[in-house]
Amino acid sequence: MTHMNTQESVRAQYAREGNLTTRRSVWQPTADGRDPATEAARTIAEARPRRVLEVGCGTGAFAERLVAENPDAEIVATDQSERFVELTAARGVEARVADLQDLPFPDDSFDVVAAMWMLYHVPDLDRGLAEVRRVLRPGGLFVAVTNGDEHTAGLRREAGGEAMVTQFSSENGEQSLRRHFDQVTREEFATRAVFPDHAAAEAYLASMQDGFDWRLPHFEGSKEYAGHVTLFAVS
Ligand SMILES: C[S@@+](CC[C@H](N)C(=O)[O-])C[C@H]1O[C@@H](n2cnc3c(N)ncnc32)[C@H](O)[C@@H]1O
Repeated sequence: MTHMNTQESVRAQYAREGNLTTRRSVWQPTADGRDPATEAARTIAEARPRRVLEVGCGTGAFAERLVAENPDAEIVATDQSERFVELTAARGVEARVADLQDLPFPDDSFDVVAAMWMLYHVPDLDRGLAEVRRVLRPGGLFVAVTNGDEHTAGLRREAGGEAMVTQFSSENGEQSLRRHFDQVTREEFATRAVFPDHAAAEAYLASMQDGFDWRLPHFEGSKEYAGHVTLFAVS
């Protein structure tokens, strides 16, 4: 366990939207214009679902997009953070507080489940994946997006830290998924974090709230660091 998935630190990290908003704002698509969320939304729409569950929905941007892009589907969004559920509901999305490890839905109740950048936070990952399997109908689609170990590792190393290795990454995520699902396909994205200035890069590091004493050497102007994202499509 790390600060990434203790219930207390996850609750503190996402009690308000500031940390997440700071981090989301810097991400740019790959050099050839591919964006993980756009590809995830396309994969979901192609499945022509009737009922979609998003777990760990954050401030609700992706769920709102699912509503717009799947007008005939019922979209339900969940998060462990009361504030995020409130923000998601304010976008007109059906939203409720729920922990992925204990989903309040019957078996086989969704055609698609989406987990965008959240499985690395779940204290008991296998229990969370078993819950996804349980609420997904047989033959349903599970879309999971996560970061690789080298995601922002350049920035973290420059600031005196090291790469962030999580329990559900580009490197180890497939192994976890295969314990619960038969089919796993994947797509890789070389994303880019663009910081307008040094202060913005420092704010990004501080938003982790991991207790580390980040010391990023000063730089002039804007700077770009590499990210790595994987989209898993699972059934
Ligand atoms: C990195 S944020 C990503 C949010 C959103 N999916 C996005 O892409 O912007 C992780 C989210 O997962 C939620 N989360 C973490 N652990 C959770 C759990 N066990 N059950 C439900 N949600 C959880 C957090 O509250 C937070 O909203």
